[in-house]
Amino acid sequence: MKIKIMTVVGARPNFMKAAPLIAAINEHNRRVAPKGPGPVRHTLVHTGQHYDKEMSGLFFRDLGLPRPDVSLGAGGGTHARQTAEIMSRFEPVLMREHPDFVLLVGDVNSTVSCALVASKASYNGACRPVIAHIEAGLRSFDRAMPEEVNRVLTDHLSDLLFVTEESGIRNLRREGIEADKIHFVGNTMIDTLLKFKRRADSSRSLSDLRLRGQGGRPREYALLTLHRPANVDDRKKLKEIVEALSPLSSTMPVIFPAHPRTRTRIEEFGLIDAFSFASPAERGAARGKINLIAPQGYIDFLSLMKNARIVLTDSGGIQEETTCLGVPCVTIRENTERPVTVRKGTNILAGVEKEGIAKAIATQLKRSVVRKAPDKWDGRSAKRILRILIDHGRSRFRF
Ligand code: UD1
Repeated sequence: MKIKIMTVVGARPNFMKAAPLIAAINEHNRRVAPKGPGPVRHTLVHTGQHYDKEMSGLFFRDLGLPRPDVSLGAGGGTHARQTAEIMSRFEPVLMREHPDFVLLVGDVNSTVSCALVASKASYNGACRPVIAHIEAGLRSFDRAMPEEVNRVLTDHLSDLLFVTEESGIRNLRREGIEADKIHFVGNTMIDTLLKFKRRADSSRSLSDLRLRGQGGRPREYALLTLHRPANVDDRKKLKEIVEALSPLSSTMPVIFPAHPRTRTRIEEFGLIDAFSFASPAERGAARGKINLIAPQGYIDFLSLMKNARIVLTDSGGIQEETTCLGVPCVTIRENTERPVTVRKGTNILAGVEKEGIAKAIATQLKRSVVRKAPDKWDGRSAKRILRILIDHGRSRFRF
């Protein structure tokens, strides 16, 4: 009998977290021993929450992900519409495939939507699938963030909670989740980072953006990402952040691969004067303006992050990736659900006001950063997870 695992991905930050699990399953299947656990049958479901080539297709290509077995095509729309659409399209797939485990990653709408469906599924009276949440336990304690709502709900619907940092264990225990459901395994996104870190050196992004100086060495530049609704959907806030970055953009190029929603807001709010949309040959050279470029694929973005003098972001994952790379990071948010990046890593929480952002940038540019990898961020997290899933499957389903 085969153990059946279904992994759900939907949005950009899911792909690099799921890729090492799929690799671990493939490796397991290649090495199945006669007396050991049997092979795993894996199904990859893409909800379609992110659908653009830049937000999805490039990541499948760069990470070597297999083509999804099932594509739900449920992208776009409001939160409610997106959630409802994913739920109603996922349910028949779950009922048809009958996986033993449903693996959910991260904190996006696709994650919570499929957790809800799986938690109420009943296979003709038989037990529902085991729900496993990868990247469980993170808390910003800010319920105005859609991701925080997604995290709390998914964790409380899950049977196995795979935690990336120790704060996650404390948060889950405080919320009454039983200790035997919680497994501290490290960070699968960092598995991917460590795997592709060297390959990023083959990226042409720095040369294409004219960010290489003498002898091909990277010039000093800053890398910016911004997409949180709280930062970009309010004109006053977005303007304040853009103004806070203006002094930095006079001293070094600021490269900004813009998420589609941010680009739309910049245009809607009439803020385009602060940005340069120069032709590729001139890009990177513009000073005094923020160089807005298309969203990058995984390898090109990793190359830009790895070689940056400083990274400014409101993303969750980038706080972790810069910690691992030892690159100074300024997080343009009031809170972080990833406190280990501030405690052990290279991250400073700057808030969203001009003074705070300017101060954090100045501190980071003076600081000589020492890399301290958080516990278990060692490239082996996916293997730990698969081991636990197989052991759980053997005791519960007698594989
Ligand atoms: C989602 C996640 C967020 C994550 C981010 C990374 C939730 C609640 N949020 O936010 O945690 O950090 O992805 O990118 O799930 N759009 C496109 N093309 C695409 C995808 C989106 O144009 O391929 C545009 C659409 O107008 C869409 C809007 O971006 O309506 C927002 O997309 P959505 O998936 O709702 O949320 P994100 O802001 O991407």
